[in-house]
Amino acid sequence: MLEEILRLKQERNAIILAHNYQRPDIQDIADFVGDSLALAIQASRTDCDVILFCGVDFMAESAAILSPGKTVLIPDADARCPMAAMITRDALIEMKREHPDAMVVCYVNTSASVKAESDICCTSANAVAVVNSLDCDEVIFVPDRNLALYAARFTEKKIIPWDGYCATHHQLLARDILDAKERHPDSEVIVHPECRPEAIDLADGAYGTEGMVGHVRDSNSDAFIIGTESGMIHRLKKEFPERTFHAVSDYMVCPPMKMVTLSTVVRSLENLEHVVTVPEDVREQAKDALDRMIAIKREH
Ligand code: 13P
Ligand code: SF4
Repeated sequence: MLEEILRLKQERNAIILAHNYQRPDIQDIADFVGDSLALAIQASRTDCDVILFCGVDFMAESAAILSPGKTVLIPDADARCPMAAMITRDALIEMKREHPDAMVVCYVNTSASVKAESDICCTSANAVAVVNSLDCDEVIFVPDRNLALYAARFTEKKIIPWDGYCATHHQLLARDILDAKERHPDSEVIVHPECRPEAIDLADGAYGTEGMVGHVRDSNSDAFIIGTESGMIHRLKKEFPERTFHAVSDYMVCPPMKMVTLSTVVRSLENLEHVVTVPEDVREQAKDALDRMIAIKREH
């Protein structure tokens, strides 16, 4: 299958991008593995004809928004982020009506039509910098309430959160972190800012997935408890084979992220399926929100 993927990749002039939560074998065949921000930037810069996106719907959609001349493929059309589906364009328009003086920050985990209604996007790698870059006192922040509350810790602005959440991260409770610390007392605890505030409070730090890689690189600790989706452990072990990584619990798995497999990658390249498209008027407006975000420096 690996040879087949290499052959098809050449034939199609394709690049394979994979998110840090993908299965280990998918991360290993990708040309580039990273967080939402790095993958969006990579998609905007490639000169390949085809971008095969191993991730979930909103990530492939962002690639289609940023690279209009390219064919963007997602190997499984059902790989959808449930949190991105928690806010609709109409609900956001209503929220804007209720808060006419607020500017809108949308997490990149949103549909293209929600991005099109937003002033700027953010990822977990730049949420605080994005919020603080805005010339306003009130910010509507959609859809992740936990990330909104995390950003609110570092700004004077009033944050108005939407009540969405990521089930994979939101289920991590304070007692899970305390149990993990008891099992691995000398480990540093790092969690994703999509976790509940009580989990973030007990951790030594909160970082997006690429921020975790950067933090481990700079840290003197030998062992870490990782409070994010399980795929991250493979990425970290590969980057830092001499360090030890413990999953905070066995249940931090994002099912849609695991839908992409080597066979769906082969089928996708063979049949050029499933093509991700965005209507042109939505794409142009959504691109403005993404471009504004990309212009802001990464925090981690
Ligand atoms: P990152 O941008 O940190 O990779 O996170 C994306 C995501 O979906 C987290 O659940
Ligand atoms: Fe969406 Fe959560 Fe999966 Fe990230 S981990 S893609 S936010 S469901």
